[in-house]
This record gives sequence, structure tokens and C-alpha cells, in this order.
Amino acid sequence: MATPDLFAQSEPPRQASSVAGHIAALREQLRLHAHRYYVLDAPTIHDSEYDRLFTELQGLEAAHPELMTADSPTQRVGGKPLDQFASVRHRVPMLSIRTETDTEPTGAKNFDSRVRKEMSLGDSDPPIEYVAELKFDGLAINLRYEHGVLVQAATRGDGEVGEDVTQNIRTINQIPLKLPASAPVVMEVRGEVYMRRADFEALNERQREKIAQGIKGEKTFVNPRNAAAGAVRQLDPAIAAQRRLSFFAYGVGEITQPQEGGPVFATHYELLKTLNSWGFPVAAQTRIAQGAAELIAFHEAIGHQRDRLPYDIDGVVYKVNNLALQNKLGFVTREPRWAVAHKYPAQEQLTTVLGIDVQVGRTGKLTPVARLAPVFVGGVTVTNATLHNEDEARRKDVRVGDTVIVRRAGDVIPEVVSVLPGKRLHDAQIFTMPRTCPVCGSAAVREEGEADYRCTGGLFCAAQRKEAILHYAHRRAVEVEGLGDKLVEQLVDANVIRVLPDIYKLGLTALASLDRMAEKSASNLIEALEKSKQTTLPRFLFGLGIRHVGEATAKALARHFGKLDAIMDATEEQLIEVGDVGPVVAQSIRTFFDQPHNREVVEQLRACGVTWEEGEPAAVAPKPLSGKTFVITGTLPNLSRDEAKDRIEAAGGKVAGSVSKKTDYAVAGAEAGSKLLKAQELGVAVIDETALLTLLASPND
Ligand code: IVH
Repeated sequence: MATPDLFAQSEPPRQASSVAGHIAALREQLRLHAHRYYVLDAPTIHDSEYDRLFTELQGLEAAHPELMTADSPTQRVGGKPLDQFASVRHRVPMLSIRTETDTEPTGAKNFDSRVRKEMSLGDSDPPIEYVAELKFDGLAINLRYEHGVLVQAATRGDGEVGEDVTQNIRTINQIPLKLPASAPVVMEVRGEVYMRRADFEALNERQREKIAQGIKGEKTFVNPRNAAAGAVRQLDPAIAAQRRLSFFAYGVGEITQPQEGGPVFATHYELLKTLNSWGFPVAAQTRIAQGAAELIAFHEAIGHQRDRLPYDIDGVVYKVNNLALQNKLGFVTREPRWAVAHKYPAQEQLTTVLGIDVQVGRTGKLTPVARLAPVFVGGVTVTNATLHNEDEARRKDVRVGDTVIVRRAGDVIPEVVSVLPGKRLHDAQIFTMPRTCPVCGSAAVREEGEADYRCTGGLFCAAQRKEAILHYAHRRAVEVEGLGDKLVEQLVDANVIRVLPDIYKLGLTALASLDRMAEKSASNLIEALEKSKQTTLPRFLFGLGIRHVGEATAKALARHFGKLDAIMDATEEQLIEVGDVGPVVAQSIRTFFDQPHNREVVEQLRACGVTWEEGEPAAVAPKPLSGKTFVITGTLPNLSRDEAKDRIEAAGGKVAGSVSKKTDYAVAGAEAGSKLLKAQELGVAVIDETALLTLLASPND
């Protein structure tokens, strides 16, 4: 069932004669756009336009407090921190479902057989109709709407009594605060609050940064489910609002008689369709299935998709579609006979740590990696799991010989989640990061405020050399066709290539003697190498793999300086004059060319015949953002905070830490907090990353 474009109807009127009418129209518009943005993932207006409507509504509500209502889009965040949660007795108990732990097709078969037997159906009777759903790995929530307004949200608790988490649940943009007038007077919607994998990874990345900066009391989260549960059970709704939570509806609790003209539900599928039409997200994979065979096919098909889903599922759920039939089937010991969960292999498993290695990446980043006794987790055999960095390894205190929980979900790199205390060997040594690069022996340094150690060996380090060569040979850099990773690996391991320029010294005989290298491919490669010598300055610069120098920066540098020597000798101040280059990038370029062995590499490449056309330095263009002050808040989709700051400064602008009347622009990203509110209050222009990039690119007026 595809999630239909629910609101593709006519837009509500913009103009209304009364203030109340105008407020109502604004709220409706904001609801519609929030739904398009958060649920359908298909916004039709720019973020800044949304912000403008939001600010307008806030202004009107402030001027007319008597017109404020709890279901206004401005009221998602705003509750005070609680001391504890109130208890909520569920009107209709929140049951659990029986689990077919059997991950094989038998799980679906057993369920269907039980239902058929219960209904006294024989082999010749038609198949039973089911709805097949995903089993989301989050936490169950009951949403109670009275007269169409969300009045209470409660956790499942023990099924009878849960906790009132209304304030936190209101902050989830995917959950409607209001239902259409046709909804029953009392309508309880049930579903799963969860965190998408990308939101979980981003949250943990931010947590790791906070830990690296020495902020006390911060920790990383074990998995998306725990992160979601932690956010829902946050006493301070402002913190809950910063965690990006999502929601899928899959059922109902108490419902009163339908309204006149309102929906009457005969099947579970109709119910889901109605909930979806009211704005609740329902997973697009939800299907009607006839009999066991289609359930098995569903289990198998979703099993293949599981890794590619943007969130964790631990199985699928089958439900009898016909609600009258569900009623007839009833319950056994708190579990309905009409539903079952059919699992997939677990995404977390126990194993032991055989050793801790330190890997060196292309940019010299040192990553501690636990070598594990092979374990089947999340559908594959895992033998390595990342420990991320020194702080994480130390916080989790992983030691050789330890029994650990490993998690692998989707295509995310497997990670050690935690150590099982009590199973440690007596003499297990605490892990410490080496102070030298395990590959080349150069010093490894961790700069202040950074979470990672880096090897300072640059192009001299073999670990970086392989990657450096591949980067240089990349299609978008100097481009050497046919110089792929297998070949580079062999050439570096055999010590045929010790430094990057050695690629131009490769002879036919040396190449043809390598594994799997035919004479024809060897001569093709030599031809490609020859061809690559005629390049351009931006490609060459980009190909050097200087940290923070991407294609765009390489182009900007080439345009600005015209000649390579001018770039190699430029001071940081001169580099900053280039639009696109800020202090961090400038320092990185300077550090790179200050290393004699990097300069040596450049000279040798030139000596091998690598050339490009040099130009004249460009006239220093006026900076587009001179005199403008920016404040950055929240997480931007692509640029890190440092990058954004860097680029604003490079364009002549200033970045301040807090919003004041002097602020020209607030750049807001996801989970923007109080700075955004302050900016809106002061009428400061609020822009998103796209608008910022446009400003950065625009010429000065
Ligand atoms: S239906 C009476 N459907 O699994 C049936 N549950 O033990 C009530 N869950 O606590 C649950 N996805 O948190 C249902 N599509 C789905 C589900 C689902 C996840 C969770 C839910 C519940 C547990 C069942």
C-alpha cells in the first residue's frame, strides 16, 4: 500500500475576514505543510516560507491569547519539565502479541493453521485474509483524541497502566494534534514511536562530539530503540523535542460510536487507510495477504528489504483483516489469537573480543576496531566492530577477552554496544590509543576539541598512500583509468609504489608480472597514465587529497591564485581571501604544504611530466557577505557547523554565538532550539542551508 498524497486537494483559503479565521487558516496551512514535510517527505514550499507562516501565527497568537488552542502547531513544544510522569490506566488494555520466534516460513504456517483450526475451517475452505505489517522496533504508544484533539499520550507500561508522556509526544511532528471532524468523539490511535537510523547515527555523532568537548553527563545511545525510549521518557519536553522521533500507526484502542457520516470500520486495512488519511504515517509496505503462502512471501520479501529500510524492524506482524473475525477469535492470556509476530535474525548478539586493532583511514584518522569471534548478527557474519574513537573505547571499556554485545543494523558499520560485566578475564588490559601510527610509525596526534587521533605521516604513510593514490587517480581528480583498488593494493604491498609519483614510473614488465594483469591491460594502463599527465590545476589540487579541499575549493583556489606555486606559498591570511576558504581550510592547506615530503611529491609529479595550464590570479572579488552577521542553530543537512562557519567567514561574514538585534541571518537546521525562537521573536531573517549556499554564491550587490 503506497502512502497516498493525502492532502493533494485544494489548499485552504489564505485570506480570512476575521483574525480568528486568519489564525485558523494559518494553522491549517501549517498542518498541511508539516504533513507534506514530515510524513510524505514531499514538501511543496521552502522552509523559509514555512518559518514565515509559523512566525506570523506566533505573532497573531501572542496578540490574541484568547484565541490560543492546544492543537495549534505552535504548541508542540512549550511544556515545563516534570518531576515525574503521571500514571494512566488504559481504557482498553495494550496487549502484546505472541511471537513466532521461528525465523523460517513455518512461523507463518503455524499461525494460519491455528486460526483456521479455531474457525473450524477445512482444507477446501478459502484462505483467510490477513494484513501483513512491519514490526517496528520502538515503543508502543496510545494516543487519545477527544473531540478530535490530542489530549493524552501514554506508554504501554504493563499493558494496564502506562505513563502520561503527552508533552513529549506532542513534539513529534508526524503525530497530528488534531483529527478531522468526522473522527469519533473518543478515538485512541496506537502505534510505534521510533527513531530512524540516520537520526540515531546523527544523535550519537553529536553525543560523541559533546563527550570529546568534555561536556559532563553526556553519553551515546545503544540503539535507536533505547534512544527513542529515552526521549519519550524525558521529563523535560525541550530535550525530547531535540531528538528526532518518528511514528507509525498500526491499531486503535478505545473508540466511541462513529459520528454521523464518519468512518465505520469493518476491516483492519480500512482502519489503517482511514488513519493514514487523517495524517498518521502507515508503513508503505503494509499489504493484504491471502492465506499462509502470501504471509510467507511477505516475510521473505521484507527480509530482503530489511537492511535498506531507514529504520529497524525486528520482524513482521500478521493480523486477521476482518474485525468481526478478530472479535470472534478473541484472546488467550493477554495475547490476541488474531495476530502474531514473525521474527528475523536478531540485530544484536553476544561474542568475545579477540583483539583490538587500530585502523588508519585515507585522511589519517585512527579508528580502534574490535576483532571478534565470528558471530551471526543482523543476517551476516561479523568479525570486526568499530569502537569509533578513544573516548568511546574508554567509556565502554572494551578489553581483549571481554564478552560484548555487537549490533549490526542495515548497512551501518557493526559496533560494540557494551561489555558484559562479570565475564572479564583477570588480566585483561585497558585499551589505550597508540601515540604513533600503527602503519608508518609517524606521530599520531589528537587536536583539542577533536575526537580522533590522526597520523601525521600524510602521503608518506602506506595506509594513506593507497587511498591517496586511488584519490589522485579518481575520475573527478587527475583520472587514471584502470588504476583501481585491487591493483593499487598489490602495487603498494609489493612496494612497487612507495610514493605517489612512482605510478608514472611503472613499466610494462613490472605491470604484466602482477597477478591477473594481462599485457593488454598493462599497456592500456600505461596509456592512461600518459594521458593523465595533461591535466588542469583544480583536478591536480583536488587529487592531492588535502584535508578539507574538495572539488569546489580546489576550483576556487585555482581561479584565485592562477598558479600552483602561489597556492603552495600563500599564507593563511592570503588563503582566506579566497571565497570558499575559511580558517580551518586555510590551516589545512598550509599544514599540507609545510610538510617537506608533500612538497617533494608535488615536485616529483611535475618532474614526471604532469602539467596543466596556469593562469593569472583573479582580481580580488568583493566578498558577498561583508558586514553581515550570522548565527547558526541546529544541525544543517550537509554542512557541519564548522564548515558553515568557515564558509561564511570566507565570504566576509561574521558568525556570532547568540541572536541579537544586530544579527542579519539565523541559519537554522534540524533540531534548532532557543536561538531560532529568539530570531523569530526579533524578526531576524531565518534561512536554511540552501538559502545560505545561495547567499554564499551570490555576487555582492
Ligand atoms: S500490534 C494486539 N503491530 O510489538 C496487538 N505491534 O508485542 C497489539 N509492534 O508492544 C500490537 N510493530 O510495540 C502491532 N505492526 C505492529 C507492530 C507492533 C511493532 C510492537 C508493539 C507491541 C509489540 C507487540
